[in-house]
Amino acid sequence: MKKNNLAAVIFSTIVGLTAFSATSCAQETVLPAPQKSTTEGSLSKALQDRKSVRKFSDKTLTDQQLADLLWAACGVNRPDGHLTVPSARNKQDITVYVGKADGTYRYDAKGNKLVKIGNGDLRGEAAKRNAFIKTAPVVIVIASDTSLQGGNMAICGIDAGAVMQNVYLHCAANGLATVCCYAGDDVTAMQKFLGIKAELKPLICMPVGIAE
Ligand SMILES: Cc1cc2nc3c(=O)[nH]c(=O)nc-3n(C[C@H](O)[C@H](O)[C@H](O)COP(=O)(O)O)c2cc1C
Repeated sequence: MKKNNLAAVIFSTIVGLTAFSATSCAQETVLPAPQKSTTEGSLSKALQDRKSVRKFSDKTLTDQQLADLLWAACGVNRPDGHLTVPSARNKQDITVYVGKADGTYRYDAKGNKLVKIGNGDLRGEAAKRNAFIKTAPVVIVIASDTSLQGGNMAICGIDAGAVMQNVYLHCAANGLATVCCYAGDDVTAMQKFLGIKAELKPLICMPVGIAE
């Protein structure tokens, strides 16, 4: 190709690309207004009601409320053992711990039971970063077994975040109050409290109760 022709091709390509990107940036599509349902228990209503709450009344949760909450968080929802929450490569790296007045428990999703791991109050441990956590009747701690995800903390955080949003939406739909709290950069004290290995990292603490 002659020099002049080559220059013309390059020039027109640059002009064409610039025009394309400018046009695509300038385009706007006004969307129809979201259809919001006011039906209690609907996903749309739960999404509208989802919010962070940090003040709790002294009302406790019933066992049924706790069972429903934990199932929503990361319970088994299919016969093959898959969960209400997605996890990368279905590694199911998340374990949920529950702290309440009578002790600390691990949620066994497959057995639908709470396994007691100590008499200590996990709420006190979790409240070191966010004092209001100890005013809630329940705290759930979302931990990821990072070894199941090859130590990829981004993946572990995403898996934990999915559980967190399940908790928020379940609370919004069922008259409960909660807030996502970062467990902190240094979780060694909490790991010691829970008696868990270094690879099992608490990432999120969520106090749950009835709003004040
Ligand atoms: C990853 C993450 C970490 C958070 N950590 C805390 C926290 O440590 N303490 C707290 O009070 N709120 C925490 N929050 C809650 C946010 O402050 C809250 O979501 C934000 O203010 C928006 O309010 P909303 O949830 O009511 O929409 C956290 C939220 C996320 C998503």
